[in-house]
Amino acid sequence: MNAQLSPLPANNELDAFWMPFTANRQFKSGPRLLARAEGMHYWTADGREIMDGVAGLWCVNAGHGRREITEAVTKQLGTMEFAPTFQMGHPIAFELANRLSEIAPPNLDRIFFTNSGSESVDTALKIALAYHRAKGAGQRTRFIGREKGYHGVGFGGTSVGGMVNNRKAFASAMLPGVDHLRHTLDIEHNAFSRGLPQWGAHLANELERLIGLHDASTIAAVIVEPISGSGGVLLPPVGYLKRLREICDKNDILLIFDEVITGFGRIGKPFASLAFDVTPDLMTTAKGITNGAIPMGAVFAHRKIYDACMQAPEGSIELFHGYTYSAHPVACAAALATLDIYKKEGLLTRAASVSPLWEDALHALRGLPHVIDIRNYGLIGAVELEPRAGKPGARAFEIFVKCFERGIMVRQTGDTIAMSPPLIIEPKQIAQLIETLGEVIREVA
Ligand SMILES: Cc1ncc(COP(=O)(O)O)c(C=O)c1O
Repeated sequence: MNAQLSPLPANNELDAFWMPFTANRQFKSGPRLLARAEGMHYWTADGREIMDGVAGLWCVNAGHGRREITEAVTKQLGTMEFAPTFQMGHPIAFELANRLSEIAPPNLDRIFFTNSGSESVDTALKIALAYHRAKGAGQRTRFIGREKGYHGVGFGGTSVGGMVNNRKAFASAMLPGVDHLRHTLDIEHNAFSRGLPQWGAHLANELERLIGLHDASTIAAVIVEPISGSGGVLLPPVGYLKRLREICDKNDILLIFDEVITGFGRIGKPFASLAFDVTPDLMTTAKGITNGAIPMGAVFAHRKIYDACMQAPEGSIELFHGYTYSAHPVACAAALATLDIYKKEGLLTRAASVSPLWEDALHALRGLPHVIDIRNYGLIGAVELEPRAGKPGARAFEIFVKCFERGIMVRQTGDTIAMSPPLIIEPKQIAQLIETLGEVIREVA
């Protein structure tokens, strides 16, 4: 349990921690404190059991408290707690890169390690620039993101991201030359679609419009989430991602998939690019790579990108980029143990077999008050609520708080309730999660 805080700390004990993406003053006046976790559940500081409907924050794919990861981390800490990877190496880093390359999409088997999704995104953007420069096309400096996209909080990721609240305070510091595609959420055409929406593949053609505006020769890369989570669970219309791939290919533009949430089994294949059969040139990952136990991220780069960068003169550093903790040995140990669990328990594909049940359970919420859309794919689900007049997000926030009081943890983003449970979820737990959510939706006016 929490050794430092009393089970219910006084409010003035909460001031020092400036909490991320949190309404600090509101939270601190009624804190929701988690103290322990195991399997599908958290326990609050005052001992209540909470079912985890969001895998922590889209990361604890194998469920909480996995002994194998704890043991691997403990052993690594006892063997070598840190080793640099600048002009040095350690075996476990190479072992992990090899293991990741075995499950990677075709030819995306050159792995650059980071410590988070945000760092993976900024790394991928830099690699895209480095690649074009190595190929003699250093004028390709522009990035195309997408409205409502979320790519973390670095300046690069914020610039290509498309969530207005994340951008507006930092507007003067956004990367120059970034443009955005339209997002793919269209409730008018696609409300209550089961799985991928049928309408909207043509939205990818916007990329041709932007190419017409900027010229392909100025564009380095397009970055999208195959399924965006933080923006409110936006699904790609059938054929949309393939079309983006075609347009990128035609114009020598790199395609980056941000798979920070879709990676590691979330939608029934190791990666969304495998599920959708569209291979990007760069793929960003984090979260599920270590089951959330130790911070880590990884960028999967196509061989052609690595090979192009390796043309630099012999003995020179090919990419002036990296983090002190790139391939941190303890994170590598956690990731290897996580991959072992995924393999042993079939978790990288389990969502495919559970998703029909998940879909049926979610869509049973159709018809409840204020529910205007339900979206699902793999083990991702979202319930879209009609916003209260003049108070965007207020209804969904109230639902989120009430759900927590009733013993389930969901995520609120705008007027969307998003869910992404650990991939170990059992049918009766799906029923409990969705039934509780339904009860709360009925109660909240
Ligand atoms: C698609 C995507 N990219 C990047 C990030 C940023 O990851 P991190 O919070 O680890 O920096 C997130 C986090 O939710 C994400 O969903």
